[in-house]
Amino acid sequence: MLDKDTIDRLLVAAKSVMSNAHVPYSSFHVGASILYEDGSIEVGCNVENASFGATICAERTAISSGIAKGKTAIEAICVTNLTDTMVTPCGICRQVIWEFGKNLPVICSNKDGDYKILSISELLPHAFDLD
Ligand code: THU
Repeated sequence: MLDKDTIDRLLVAAKSVMSNAHVPYSSFHVGASILYEDGSIEVGCNVENASFGATICAERTAISSGIAKGKTAIEAICVTNLTDTMVTPCGICRQVIWEFGKNLPVICSNKDGDYKILSISELLPHAFDLD
């Protein structure tokens, strides 16, 4: 389902916003991009706060941007960072991603553009569900 061109578009989009991350506390820049059913892409970066718990991750920033535009039909998510590690979403983000699709692919990337694709059900087995 995810062809190489689409993956490249998502990687470029996620990378493009990393420098905007507000990271005075960790200096850990993260960029995320979301692909929607209509082919459009939203982006997000992490936004930290002096009250650490108020920090919002790049993935949730991107998802929230889409929601504000009425976009919920998510097809794939991409997350990248400036280290060698192919970063995976934190626990809270996994639950938020799961809300929008139980089998969504998550492209986890590093500074060189290497990536691995994991489904959200692999990343978050036994997710919390009100049903
Ligand atoms: N962070 C993200 O934005 N996404 C992740 O997937 C992992 C962690 C952010 C939160 C915080 O600003 C910084 O990375 C260090 O934890």
